[in-house]
Parts: sequence; structure tokens; C-alpha cells
Amino acid sequence: MTSNDRLSDHGARDLAGRTVVITGASSGIGWAAALAFARRGAALVLVARRRAPLERLARRCEDLGARALAIEADVTDPERMLAVAEAAQAAFGGIDVWINGAGLSLWGRSPPSRSRTRTA
Ligand SMILES: NC(=O)c1ccc[n+]([C@@H]2O[C@H](COP(=O)([O-])OP(=O)(O)OC[C@H]3O[C@@H](n4cnc5c(N)ncnc54)[C@H](OP(=O)(O)O)[C@@H]3O)[C@@H](O)[C@H]2O)c1
Repeated sequence: MTSNDRLSDHGARDLAGRTVVITGASSGIGWAAALAFARRGAALVLVARRRAPLERLARRCEDLGARALAIEADVTDPERMLAVAEAAQAAFGGIDVWINGAGLSLWGRSPPSRSRTRTA
């Protein structure tokens, strides 16, 4: 079990019949949210630019009993976003929740301080 798997699970499948679109689903918060929604029975529309991780995530969601659709799209392209909405409608009959998780996340360590105390 990964830390993402532990994020949310009360055992309830209370979102059965609901459709959740998540942009930025190929990693981080979007990935974790998708698994949490999948456990609760929602149908997922998973959106990001990289297809391979999206498809891996779709399979994980399906393993949890959810329906999932992976769509490669860039959120800066309005026509692709319209296509995402239309695909959600066609596959699952509508959209109940849309999570805009796509974004940029930078992590790192600050370099060690070079300051030294000098004594005269
Ligand atoms: N993690 C935190 O603790 C934290 C806290 C506060 C705020 N946030 C903010 O929340 C957002 C997500 O954070 P995260 O940690 O989950 O980041 P992350 O792991 O880097 O994930 C970012 C996601 O956005 C997607 N993405 C980026 N640009 C995109 C674009 N133009 N079109 C479609 N998808 C795009 C990436 O997928 P592709 O590269 O496959 O497109 C990836 O799935 C960021 O804006 C971050 O600054 C994060």
C-alpha cells in the first residue's frame, strides 16, 4: 500500500453513479484524488498530457471497481477541454465534479548556508 492509497477510504461506495473529471491526474494530488474517488465508486475521467501514467492510473481505478477514461489533453487548449467534457458526457452521461488539479509543483532543498562566523 502506498501513501496515496491511504488518503481516503471509509469503505463507502457513496459516489456510485457520479462522474468526476480530474485534470493533472498523472501524478501528485490528482493521482491520489482519483484513487480516493475510485474507491467510493465514482466514474473517473483522467486528464493530463502524459498518456502512459494516465493509463496506469485508469487500470488502478478499474482494479478498485471504478470505470475510468484516460484522456491526453493540455489544459491550456480550450478545444481539448471541450473535447474532455464531451467525452465525459458520452462515456458516463454527464459531469458531477470537475477538479482542476493540473499545475506545476517544484520541490527541492535549499543549498547549505555558506555564511561563516569570522572572529577578528
Ligand atoms: N503538492 C502539494 O503539497 C501542493 C500544495 C499546494 C498547492 N499545490 C499545487 O497543486 C497543483 C498540483 O500539485 P501536485 O503536487 O499534484 O503536482 P504534480 O505532481 O507536479 O502534478 C501536476 C499534474 O498537472 C499535470 N499538468 C501540468 N501541466 C498541465 C497541462 N498544461 N495540461 C494538463 N495537465 C498538466 C501534470 O501532468 P502532465 O505532466 O502529464 O501533463 C501532473 O499530472 C500544483 O499547481 C501545485 O503548485 C500542491
